[in-house]
Amino acid sequence: MQRDKFYVTTPIYYVNDRPHIGHAYTTILADVLARYHRLLKVPTFFLTGTDEHGQKVQQAADKGGITPQEHADRTVVRFQELWEKLEITHDDFIRTTEPRHKTVVQKLFQNLYDKGEIYRAEYDGWYCVPCERFFMEKDLVNGACPDCGRPVDRIKESNYFLRMSKYQEWLVQYIQDHPKFIQPDYRRNETLGFLRKPLNDLCVSRPKSRLSWGIELPFDKDFVAYVWCDALTNYISAVGYLSDEAKFARWWPASYHLIGKDILTTHTVYWPIMLKAMGVELPETVFAHGWWLLGDSKMSKTDGNVVNPMEFADKYGVEAFRYFLMAEMVLGQDASFTEEAFIRRYNADLANDLGNLLSRLVKMIGTYAGGTLPAPGELGEEEKLLRKTALEAAVTMETTLDGMRLDLGLAAVISVVRETNRYLERRQPWTLAKQEDKQPLYTVLYCAAEALRIVSGLLFPVMPGKMAELRKALGITDETLDLDSLKEWGGLKPGTQLGAMQSLFPRIMPIEAKPGAIPESGAAKVEVTPMGVVLVDYADFQKIQLRTARILEVEKIQGADKLLRLQIDLGGERRQIVAGIALHYEPSALVGKVVVVVANLKPAKIRGIESNGMLLAASVGKELRVITVEGDLPTGAVVK
Ligand code: ME8
Ligand code: MG
Repeated sequence: MQRDKFYVTTPIYYVNDRPHIGHAYTTILADVLARYHRLLKVPTFFLTGTDEHGQKVQQAADKGGITPQEHADRTVVRFQELWEKLEITHDDFIRTTEPRHKTVVQKLFQNLYDKGEIYRAEYDGWYCVPCERFFMEKDLVNGACPDCGRPVDRIKESNYFLRMSKYQEWLVQYIQDHPKFIQPDYRRNETLGFLRKPLNDLCVSRPKSRLSWGIELPFDKDFVAYVWCDALTNYISAVGYLSDEAKFARWWPASYHLIGKDILTTHTVYWPIMLKAMGVELPETVFAHGWWLLGDSKMSKTDGNVVNPMEFADKYGVEAFRYFLMAEMVLGQDASFTEEAFIRRYNADLANDLGNLLSRLVKMIGTYAGGTLPAPGELGEEEKLLRKTALEAAVTMETTLDGMRLDLGLAAVISVVRETNRYLERRQPWTLAKQEDKQPLYTVLYCAAEALRIVSGLLFPVMPGKMAELRKALGITDETLDLDSLKEWGGLKPGTQLGAMQSLFPRIMPIEAKPGAIPESGAAKVEVTPMGVVLVDYADFQKIQLRTARILEVEKIQGADKLLRLQIDLGGERRQIVAGIALHYEPSALVGKVVVVVANLKPAKIRGIESNGMLLAASVGKELRVITVEGDLPTGAVVK
C-alpha cells in the first residue's frame, strides 16, 4: 500500500528509570519503520520523547533529594544519548514538561470541561503507582493491581472525571469496524474482552495537596492533570494540535502508535475515548509488540536482570544489536534475549553469510578482474534464478513491512545472501578463471555483486552504517538509495572501481565453546579457493597452536562412514584425534604421514569418541587433502 505520509510514534518513556533493552527495542523498531518509509519516498515523521510528570517521577526525585524537574533534566539525557548511540533518526523528541506540550494539555482540558465531558465528583477507589492507574474495588485481583499484581493505595478525594462510560458502545463498534485499529488481532480481542465489562468514568485529575508534579488544570488551580491524559496527548501536541493547524493536518492521524503490550488499555480505551470526546480522528493503528524476556524470565530491576543497551551496543556493535532485535522478534509475540542467541545469530547471518560473501567477492573481483567490476554477458539459468530471488526479496520486504512482519522480510534478505554464496559454490569462479573465455567468469562476478547491492539496500534501514560501508566496497558512491532501485536488476555499473575490502562483521567467539557444538568432522577445512577470509588480529591467530604430528595408527569408526580414529605422535605425546576424512583416505594410506594439527583445541567427544585436537586439511568441492609437512622435522614442531 502506498501511503501519502507516515507518522510513527513510540511510547514516551518515564524518566524515573534508566533506559533498558525494552525501550531500545520499541525505538529501534520505530526507527527502522521510519527509515524504510523514507526509502519508499513517503514523507515521514517519527516522534519519541519522555513522560516526565506523575507520582512515579515525583517519588524517584524525592528519593534523590532533588526536585522532579531536576530529576527529569538529568534522566532525559540518558534517553537522548542512547538514541544518538543507537542511530535513531527521530524528527522530534517531546518532553511533557515543555511549555509547547503543557499549553496544549491545558487547552484540551478546558475544551472538554466547557463541553461538559469532564465533571467533578467524589472519588473512592484504589491507585497503582507503578502503573499510574486508578482501579475500583471490584477491579482488584486479590486486593492488588489487576495489571501488575503490585499493592495499590486507597484514595478517597474529590476529583474530576471524563465521561468514558457513554462512549463504551461507540468504541466497541469502532474497533469492530476498523480491524486495523488494534494490531495484532489477538490484542484487539483483548481490548474487546476488557470492554465487555462496564467502563467506569476516568478520573483525570489529582489534587495538588497529594501530588503537585503535573500540569495544572486551567479551570481549577488545586488540581493537576492525571499523568496518562497528559502523556497520551504528546502524540498530538508534538504535531501541532491546537497550535499549528497546518502541521496537524499534515501528520495526524498517526500511522502507527508502537507500544509494548503493557500499555494496551491506555492506548486502546482511554486514548480513543479522549480523542472522540475532543472530536479528533483516531490513529490508524495501535500496534502492541511483545515482551523481551531475559532467557525465560521477565526483566526485573529488583533481580538485577536487565540488559543495558548502551553496554551491549558498545560490546558488540550498534548495528548488529539493531539487526538482532529486528530479526529475532516475531512482531507481537514475546522473544527471549540472551547473549548466546545474539552471538549465534550474529555469527550465522552476519559474519558467516553476509560478511564472508562481501569479502570473498571483493577479493575475487580483485584477483580475477583487477578490482574493476566486469560487465556481465548473457544470463544463464543459475543467474536468472539468483536475480529472481533477489528481486523477490525486495517485494517481500515491502509486503512484510506493511504486515508488520519485519522478521520475515529480513529472513528473505538473508536467504538471498545464502543463495548468492551457494551460487558462487556452484559456478566456481576459481574454475571459470582457468578458461580461455572470461565472459562466464565475469557474468558470475557481476551477478553476485548485483545481488549483494540489492541486499545492502534492503538491510540499509536496519544497519545504515555497515551497509554504507558495504556499498562503498562495491563501488557505489552516489547515495540516491530508494526501494524502487532495489526492485530492478542491473544497478551496478560495469567498469566501476571497487573499494577496499571490508571485514564487516568479524566473527565473535562463542561465550563458551561447548563440546557438543564441535562439528561432526574433526578435520578443519582450509579453503584453498580464493575465498574471502574474515580478518583477525595477530593476537587472535596466536591463540591457535598449530603443531606437526606423525600419524601412528588409523581405523574406521563403526557406524560413521565419514570418520576415522587416528592415533598420533605429537612431539613424543600420544594423542587420539577423530577426523572426518574417511571418504578421502584409506586408513593405511595415512599411516606415517606428518600432518598439521590444532594442538590446543578443547577436547571434545565426537560420536562418543574422545578427540584431542584437530587435523588440518584443504578442500575444493569434493576433493580433500590433509596438510603434510615436507622434508624431515621432529614431530611437535610449531607451525606459524
Ligand atoms: O509506560 N520488552 O513508560 P515506560 C519490550 N510512560 N518492550 C518493553 C519492555 C520489554 N521487556 N519493557 C518496556 C510508560 N518496554 C509510559 C508510556 S505513552 C503515552 C506513555 C517498552 O518507561 C514498551 O514499548 O514504562 C513499553 O510500552 C514501554 O517500554 C514502557 O515504557
Ligand atoms: Mg512501565
